[in-house]
Amino acid sequence: MPQCKWCSKKGFFLSLSKKSLCKSCQLMIETKINNHARVIKSNIKVLGASEEKEKNINHCDEIIEKARELLRYEKKGISTIDPSPSKLIKEFTTTHDKLIIKSVPEKVNEALLSAESALLPYNEIYSINEVLNKIKTVRTVLPELLVPKIFALINQKGGVGKTTSTINLGAGLAKLKKKVLLIDFDPQANLTDGLGTEEKDLKYTIYNILKSEVNCKNVIINNNENMSFIPSHVFLAKSEKEFSREARNIFLLKNALKGLTGYDYVLIDCPPSLGILTLNALAAAQSVIIPLQPEYYALKGIRKLMDIIDFVKGKINRRLTIVGIICTRYDNRKIHHREVLGKIRESLGDSIFYTVIRENISLAESSSFGQTIFEYKPKSHGAEDYMNLSKEVIERNTINNKKNNKEFSSV
Ligand SMILES: Nc1ncnc2c1ncn2[C@@H]1O[C@H](COP(=O)(O)OP(=O)(O)OP(=O)(O)O)[C@@H](O)[C@H]1O
Ligand SMILES: [Mg+2]
Repeated sequence: MPQCKWCSKKGFFLSLSKKSLCKSCQLMIETKINNHARVIKSNIKVLGASEEKEKNINHCDEIIEKARELLRYEKKGISTIDPSPSKLIKEFTTTHDKLIIKSVPEKVNEALLSAESALLPYNEIYSINEVLNKIKTVRTVLPELLVPKIFALINQKGGVGKTTSTINLGAGLAKLKKKVLLIDFDPQANLTDGLGTEEKDLKYTIYNILKSEVNCKNVIINNNENMSFIPSHVFLAKSEKEFSREARNIFLLKNALKGLTGYDYVLIDCPPSLGILTLNALAAAQSVIIPLQPEYYALKGIRKLMDIIDFVKGKINRRLTIVGIICTRYDNRKIHHREVLGKIRESLGDSIFYTVIRENISLAESSSFGQTIFEYKPKSHGAEDYMNLSKEVIERNTINNKKNNKEFSSV
């Protein structure tokens, strides 16, 4: 006895169609297929037409959802639309996945590229030339739209490895093909020095930027293809007195960096204090990285730092998060280093970077030669550790920092 493929009803249907469907199923399925196909087509037409990632992600989601529903019919042997739903799902899932990697801007470029090649075969069916052109345009202006992630490397304690970490984390990220800008925000100008630039040779420094005497773009010095820096000068020491008088001066750095594009990461090397300069860095940054030496009093200092970060979050920069704490200058042979690291891990959990920076003389030497560790001794422990740290920073950057902050508040 004939049977409807969809509702499985058996009977001698007068109206059993060629597709072996009873009349009511035939009608219901045709309407659904037409509706879903319409939604898919209209989403494909607008996909990539907007620069806003969220919108493009939603278009992909709708295409995938409707194609999934159509797949159910196809699995029962009821042919649906061309191109086939499974092909649509595969192609648009790839595009969607690339689009949601929010914090890695070049992934958007990649996603648009994959949207472009996914759409190309459907150009004739859906006549989407206009959309394809729009995607092309968006991709060409995209580098200009790259807004950098700004990280402040802070710790009020001196000599814990802020400058060494800023230089070598920056160099590691640059080696991983990220565009990096370092800012020497310390009047000691150790970063400027450590990258082989003499203060006396400088026309402009970060101090002139804060005073609005020059645009930050005109002060940037290229270190290598992917890494540049803004130098500092001992003059910057004047800023504590000069800028502390007015509360709005907390935003001098933030305002100076407004509109800065073309970098993936900006790393700010802060001075060993919690004055106006550090507050400026915290106001401008999206996240902080805390270099910490494994000493007994380290946890005490961290609590004070957390109070400052909480204050900034409450009053100045609501978005501020913590990327992580770097354990620096670690010597595995020292019992107290092992004990303190264990204790810090216990209290701070995942907030501590998995990568530990070992004590390594090459790191100290490299700055005296004005070189990064990757230039000076690429095979040293220092280079290995900072490369691992750079990879971890990129990974962490994609994780929601809310979890970290919750852990910190319980320290
Ligand atoms: N992992 C390491 N192994 C050996 N020496 C290191 C390491 N990290 C940093 N140093 C050395 O320790 C000293 C202090 O480091 P660094 O200048 O980076 O600290 P800092 O926190 O920036 O200091 P400050 O607070 O004065 O700005 C420097 O001489 C540096 O070369
Ligand atoms: Mg320093």
